[in-house]
Amino acid sequence: MNAPVTARAHTNIALVKYWGKADTELMLPQTNSLSLTLDQFYTDTTVTFDDQLTADEVTVNDQLLSPTAAKKVHNFLNLVRQQASRTSFARVTSVNHVPTAAGLASSASAFAALAGAASKAAGMNLDKTALSRLARRGSGSATRSIFGGFVEWEAGHDDLSSRAVPLIEEVTWPIAVVALVLDPHHKKVSSRQGMQSSVTTSPFYPAWKQVVVDDLDAIKPAIRAQDFTTMGETLETNAMRMHALTLSAWPPFSYFNGDTLIAMQMVKGLRAAGLECYYTLDAGPNLKVFCQTADVPAIQDRFARQFGSDNVIVAHPGPGIQFLNEA
Ligand code: DP6
Repeated sequence: MNAPVTARAHTNIALVKYWGKADTELMLPQTNSLSLTLDQFYTDTTVTFDDQLTADEVTVNDQLLSPTAAKKVHNFLNLVRQQASRTSFARVTSVNHVPTAAGLASSASAFAALAGAASKAAGMNLDKTALSRLARRGSGSATRSIFGGFVEWEAGHDDLSSRAVPLIEEVTWPIAVVALVLDPHHKKVSSRQGMQSSVTTSPFYPAWKQVVVDDLDAIKPAIRAQDFTTMGETLETNAMRMHALTLSAWPPFSYFNGDTLIAMQMVKGLRAAGLECYYTLDAGPNLKVFCQTADVPAIQDRFARQFGSDNVIVAHPGPGIQFLNEA
């Protein structure tokens, strides 16, 4: 039995979205994407390889998962075993730190933390670039959660070239992301299914690939120059154009609910009132609103009055992967 290794990884929010795979086995995306790692939402995962075990044992938030529920984790551990030339099964204990446990949990922090803890527990000493490649095999967005701050995932064309590259790891720009919990329930169409359906059935998919190229060209200099307006306008249109792929797929689907549309209108209203903010959203109805920290109290108050203060969570740029107890 090896000593337990614990890793902490934070989730991230994409400003230029990943929405489609070019290779579902290697998890190579169709396009690059760009995100900001957040401080408020993270996963702590401990892994121990133990010769006494007869199967992998996976516990998430104190619940022992059934073999079916643990399948993605088991497949991921097989990859780690293969790379580390190990055969023993592992005990995995994972805790998601998500305020109000309300639908913001993400496979990004989960697989980034698992990649770190499992590879180290198996005796590999991977640098962050190698960890980002490994995390990618669990979930695409996990690729970016290995680094802190603004991170680009370069699509690449094979296992080696598809990895995360930090743009700015230590973010000194005073910006915040106000996360609105509009529906705590599980999404009906997973991002994995949703993006695959968009790639294969939306006639707009080729246009989306060009949108991503143009948006990255616009947003990277804006981030470096701390140009909040250009960054905000780019991230908001990018999110809407990603969601246009869901509406134009067959069968069509949408992640929006009524409150999503209300919150979008409120963001426009706040902007008209001089509080500059921009929204984005992923494969679920919960809006994330980018703003400057000086405007957080007013924006938070406006959303708290509409949706309840428990459903408004303020996050800031967060760090990359950390090892909490190296043996
Ligand atoms: C909308 O990383 O959850 O959040 O690679 O199939 O595990 P898999 O998908 P996942 O998809 C994330 C999609 C997104 C956009 C993004 O994070 O870039």
